[in-house]
Amino acid sequence: MVKLINFTEVNPISRKVDLSIKKEMYSTILKKKFILGNEVKNFEDSFSKLSKIKYSVGCASGTDALILAIKSLNLQKDDEIIIPAMTYISTSLAVILNNFKIVFADIDEETGLVSIAKIHKLITKKTKAIIPVNLYGQKVDIKKLRKVVGKKIFIIEDSAQSHFAYSCYNCRKNTNRKCCKKERNEKFANIACYSFYPSKNLGAYGDAGLVATNNFKIYKKLLLLRNLGSVKKNKHNIIGMNSRLDTIQAVVLKNKLKSILKLNDIRRKISIFYDYHLGNIKEIKITDTKPGSSRHLYVIRTKNRNKLIKHLLFKKIHCQIHYPYSLNKAKFIDRRITLKNSENWANQCLSLPLHPNLKIFQMKRIVSEIKNFFQHK
Ligand SMILES: Cc1ncc(COP(=O)(O)O)c(C=O)c1O
Repeated sequence: MVKLINFTEVNPISRKVDLSIKKEMYSTILKKKFILGNEVKNFEDSFSKLSKIKYSVGCASGTDALILAIKSLNLQKDDEIIIPAMTYISTSLAVILNNFKIVFADIDEETGLVSIAKIHKLITKKTKAIIPVNLYGQKVDIKKLRKVVGKKIFIIEDSAQSHFAYSCYNCRKNTNRKCCKKERNEKFANIACYSFYPSKNLGAYGDAGLVATNNFKIYKKLLLLRNLGSVKKNKHNIIGMNSRLDTIQAVVLKNKLKSILKLNDIRRKISIFYDYHLGNIKEIKITDTKPGSSRHLYVIRTKNRNKLIKHLLFKKIHCQIHYPYSLNKAKFIDRRITLKNSENWANQCLSLPLHPNLKIFQMKRIVSEIKNFFQHK
């Protein structure tokens, strides 16, 4: 009987890492220290080191990371924040929950990333921040964005899907297969926000998130904001949230951090396989992706999407859609705006199974079923 191919696998870790997580979790339980503490600080420091950023502040989720990041900037009523319309709902909720105005920018039709040219046109006196989303693991060119928007506008990267991705822009080698320079462009943004939702490249055993910055003032403010406005018990300096990174989750994440670069590379290899085998099917568009992407999701576009999903499901291959509607069409948003590229993307995008434990025979089966569907030789 043909076995089901799952869309993702939430815990692709070795036995060694698994054992070390269990051991350290148990030791935390014995110590009965469940809130913040050394475990959280150790993970934050390790995350900073690996991502080459000065300060990291763990929090309760990727959504909270975005909410906290916006709160840390002292924006004023009526200020506007530009975000892409093709992203997860949280990017927009973070703006709405902070009572600022969302301005949607359309995406580039080949990469799915927010279009920097479109952002440029949307900037007004009220624009105080931009949240570029590193969709599917690809890095937005933050260096270029910084040049376009100037120094005064805050840039908050939504890196929920791009843990330890590299920015491969202006690379002369341009091999399209391997990122050779391994450059990071975080230094051009003010803040980067991460999610450790279990199915992310770096996933916790529940909800978790993190805000990273090179700015000491923002860092200090984030420490207060995530902990009810306090760093000392019963001393509350500002209005904060209860959004601490759970100590047990910090233990899990610190251990999983050891294998993240290797696991990202496996995702890249699987994506190259898909690119190679699906690239010449004329009914499919491959997402134009730079080799430094962390390859959180492998997304194709096709006009026959819904029928293809049915066919693959019948063949026991699970796929998903990221995302089924462009956020300018969300129920709670003024739906009069049209964003052609984002809306077309939402109608045609399809995410194929992608996780580090996907086996070659499964990849071959997926490709072969897609070819069968399009009656491609
Ligand atoms: C682009 C993006 N932003 C924000 C989030 C929110 O993260 P969380 O689910 O940890 O709140 C996600 C999670 O899926 C995401 O993909």
